[in-house]
Amino acid sequence: MSETKKLFIKTYGCQMNVYDSERMSEALGASGYVETKTPDDADMILLNTCHIREKAAEKVYSELGRMKAFKANKPDLKIGVAGCVAQAEGQEIMRRQPAVDLVVGPQSYHRLAEMEAKTRRGEKALDTDFPLEDKFEALKNRPKARRAPAAFLTVQEGCDKFCAFCVVPYTRGAEVSRPVQRIVDEAKDLVERGVREITLLGQNVNAYHGTGPDGNEWGLAQLIWELDKVDGLARIRFTTSHPNDMQDDLIDAHAHCAKLMPYLHLPVQSGSDRILKRMNRSHTSDSYLRLIERIRAARPDILMSGDFIVGFPEETEEDFQATLDLIEEVRYGYAYSFKYSTRPGTPAAERAQVEDAVASERLQRLQALITRQQTEIQQGMVGRDVTVLVEKQGRDPGQMVGKSEYLHAVHINDCTAQPGDLVNARITEAVRNSLAGAQI
Ligand code: 5AD
Ligand code: SF4
Repeated sequence: MSETKKLFIKTYGCQMNVYDSERMSEALGASGYVETKTPDDADMILLNTCHIREKAAEKVYSELGRMKAFKANKPDLKIGVAGCVAQAEGQEIMRRQPAVDLVVGPQSYHRLAEMEAKTRRGEKALDTDFPLEDKFEALKNRPKARRAPAAFLTVQEGCDKFCAFCVVPYTRGAEVSRPVQRIVDEAKDLVERGVREITLLGQNVNAYHGTGPDGNEWGLAQLIWELDKVDGLARIRFTTSHPNDMQDDLIDAHAHCAKLMPYLHLPVQSGSDRILKRMNRSHTSDSYLRLIERIRAARPDILMSGDFIVGFPEETEEDFQATLDLIEEVRYGYAYSFKYSTRPGTPAAERAQVEDAVASERLQRLQALITRQQTEIQQGMVGRDVTVLVEKQGRDPGQMVGKSEYLHAVHINDCTAQPGDLVNARITEAVRNSLAGAQI
């Protein structure tokens, strides 16, 4: 192995990117890199980018401008761009910012070590090749580092849904699912490194259809039941799901699989059927609400989370009101809401846009409603008993922090448990975005 070099990774966007950044760090570990928390002393800076909204992509260019300054003190510094902006813009990035040495798409990061070597020879390295070849296989022999108690595991990438606003089907490509056995092996490996909770990741995770050990195609529910058998693994979650892929066996797993946590992120985007149709969502507000009824019948305490877009082209006040009505009916524990952002190349980009001031005002109203629901649900936890997966020490001495089954952050004073332990706690107080609990 060559001498130690320092790697600074800045991650934008979704949890897929968080997972990818970890894998990139491991891939470059083989070339002698260790991660550093600041760009000041880095030998390589990687921006793992997101293309989902315009702001996210523009932020990358301004950040690259800043990062370029570090080259003045350190001419050997290499700057790389990874993720969806890399995939979407490729060569254009090097043209717009000549300080960039390397551009790597999300399907190619197992080639990072070779690409890094190329930049060390003074050449530019670009790899945004499709389709997915098995980068996961290429990364199998990564170093056996100890891991935090909660980890992500990618099981599926890409999306075939083509919502009219979304770039994911273009930047991440078609849906690809990993074989069941590979996922189970990776889960066992994570457990050996101290992981107790795994979140299965996919752009459309409940559309998962990987080859099972019997040679047949398995769905997400079958995969979950297989992971349920892994000793030492205590909790399973999955994200992000599409309402149209919420099959009966998956709902049933929420009722019967004790390791599957009562939390479901199920984006609906809008409550107006007219807008949902224009979004190419192929579900209605009513079919979504009936689906949630079935899920709640299976698991009454499940905490629902969602995504919303306001100001989608042609959205009227009436359409927006239908979204608020839907939110009132569902009662979300968490929700993420965004102002519609025009993405060139997507069908909605061509349509009549809603005025920005109108969209901003709607976003505020929607967020106020969601904040109210979130707070009510958190306050409703007071007096209830939960199980907390302890992740780390809290700010106060003797305090530990972790997550409940419902993904609420819980801090426990005078806690005897260690990171990785599951402790029972009674919720005593809801304080801003976290809960206080007492060990029982
Ligand atoms: N504008 C605003 N929000 C978007 N999302 C996806 N594309 C766009 C866009 N063009 C949101 C959706 C999706 C989440 C990950 O990002 O709500 O569920
Ligand atoms: Fe994008 Fe999700 Fe729609 Fe796929 S299902 S196109 S990832 S918003």
